[in-house]
Amino acid sequence: KDFPPYLDGLVRSVPHRYVTTPEFAKNAEDIYNLAPRPDDIYVSTFPKCGTTWVQELVWMVVNQCDFEKSKKEQLSIRSPFLEKANSPLVDKIMELLCYWNLMDWLRPFIRKAISLVLGDCLRDLEQIDQMAGPRVIKSHLPLYLLNPSVLNTSKVVYVARNPKDVIVSYYHYHRLLEFHHYTGNLEAFADYFMTDRVYSAPFFPHLLDAWNKRHHPNLHFVFYEDLKRNLRGEIEKIAKFLGKTLTEDQLVKLTEHLRFDNFAKNETVNCEIGKEIGLMNNSGHFIRKGKTGDWKNHFSPELNERIDKWMQANLEGTDLRFITEL
Ligand code: A3P
Repeated sequence: KDFPPYLDGLVRSVPHRYVTTPEFAKNAEDIYNLAPRPDDIYVSTFPKCGTTWVQELVWMVVNQCDFEKSKKEQLSIRSPFLEKANSPLVDKIMELLCYWNLMDWLRPFIRKAISLVLGDCLRDLEQIDQMAGPRVIKSHLPLYLLNPSVLNTSKVVYVARNPKDVIVSYYHYHRLLEFHHYTGNLEAFADYFMTDRVYSAPFFPHLLDAWNKRHHPNLHFVFYEDLKRNLRGEIEKIAKFLGKTLTEDQLVKLTEHLRFDNFAKNETVNCEIGKEIGLMNNSGHFIRKGKTGDWKNHFSPELNERIDKWMQANLEGTDLRFITEL
């Protein structure tokens, strides 16, 4: 099948059914062979399912709620992205750009310089390999593409979200990120999504693989919608899974810290820094709306019906069910 133009450059790993970037394809073997450690925690998700939210949650739980450190250091440094780790150098440059409040016309040149020096691939597995533990590692890879020793050695927190809200969230994200150059409408985007022509597709095999492994002792499966319904309760469950106990005071503070309004204002997680160097435009925010059921503000009845049919077909024979409104 043809890719839509905005996906130029993405490649598909046909045997594994996974849409990815050429950089990942080149480095897949090294990523696969990264040695997992018993104190590693992987936050594994399909994009837009609440990755950043749970990354910060997990990082806090395993770092005794170190609010001071979390305020000082970007989440992408504290908790690296396995397939595309941001080099600390790039984060440093971003911070400086932010600080200098550089004029708009200078930003594209600086961006070009960064990519010339570092290459397009900012992944730095060596740094992840040398990081002190416990490492909280973000990955959008489906579990079937991770080395099986990850699940047998480390802990995995898998976050799932209903696909209707994922489509809406991913659509806005595609419009926000400059390098996606996505100018189409939501309807077209939903079609790309349902025909596996977006990064990290296909959606259902990703979720179903984790769902089928949810009873593995090293896997904790959590729904975005449950985090929305009962954040404190889900923090407690994740802490228990990770063998940690939080004090009442820590629980109260952490729940507050992770509430949408506070999260959206938090500069070490909200990625607003990306606007400073032109990675993102001003059409919106990375921490956007944080609602369950936002799809109702976006889908026509006809589109909704098509998505319902697509969901039904993909859920046939499984006991995975989604909550699409709260
Ligand atoms: P929306 O675009 O629907 O608002 P990811 O981190 O996997 O990219 O997921 C991003 C989605 O999670 C966005 O969804 C974002 O707003 C939402 N999100 C991030 N932090 C949140 C929070 N503290 N509470 C609720 N939703 C949050």
